[in-house]
Amino acid sequence: MSTSKPIDIKRVTTHIIQEMKTRGEKISCLTAYDYSMGGIVDAAGVELILVGDSASNVMAGHETTLPITLDQMIYHAASVVRAVSRALVVVDLPFGSYQGNSEEALRSAIRIMKESGAHAVKLEGGLEVKESITRILSAGVPVMGHLGLTPQSIYKFGTYTVRAREDEEAQKLLDDARMLDEVGCFAVVLEKIPSTLTKQVSESIAIPTIGIGAGPHADGQILVLHDMLGINKEFKPRFLRRYADLDGIMHDAIAQYVSDVKSKSFPNEKESY
Ligand code: KIV
Repeated sequence: MSTSKPIDIKRVTTHIIQEMKTRGEKISCLTAYDYSMGGIVDAAGVELILVGDSASNVMAGHETTLPITLDQMIYHAASVVRAVSRALVVVDLPFGSYQGNSEEALRSAIRIMKESGAHAVKLEGGLEVKESITRILSAGVPVMGHLGLTPQSIYKFGTYTVRAREDEEAQKLLDDARMLDEVGCFAVVLEKIPSTLTKQVSESIAIPTIGIGAGPHADGQILVLHDMLGINKEFKPRFLRRYADLDGIMHDAIAQYVSDVKSKSFPNEKESY
């Protein structure tokens, strides 16, 4: 592993993401769901932008990620892609668009790539979705895996608690990660698993691991943009670091605007034609 300076990248590709792991350079990832935020996240230097199905929660206000549709994901993804000139844009295949039918999985992935202009897709699960993954890969579409807490299976888990604490589940996760590496995925998200397991997985596979609530040993980190910016205040898991209080800043700005309109101080002469 080297600790040399980050390379100057014009467009991040899956190959560059792999090279970063080899070089020992951590990979920074965030979600985005629209044009304005996509542009800000890209300009700030994030290497990978995920148009996550967490849009179902943070953009649409649903309790889970299950309701969001393929059409809605494509709308969000196309908006982000129009803003991004450097980062690799990865799009979640939504619930119901790839499980149990690899032909449908391929059709869904192709729609995302054609209609949004994104660079890769992500889907949740291991062995159960291997056939879908290999079919998508056979069409030349890069695939990112997602193991551990997979929110599309929330009704199977029954809770958003840490996964794979027990040996049996940890071994399955390790086997699944090895399978994702072997079939040709370019990276894998590890969500809410013990830090020691993240270390073991990251050292056992060649492709980069991207952690969320998975400790410091992942090859990269990802957070949901609205959570780390403090827009979505109710969500307070232990793994989340807040980098801003945008809820407070936006609230105060809007309250000031309301007050200025009521007091007739907005608009003034300079703000009028
Ligand atoms: O949908 C999403 O935002 C995700 C990340 C939490 C990894 O899958």
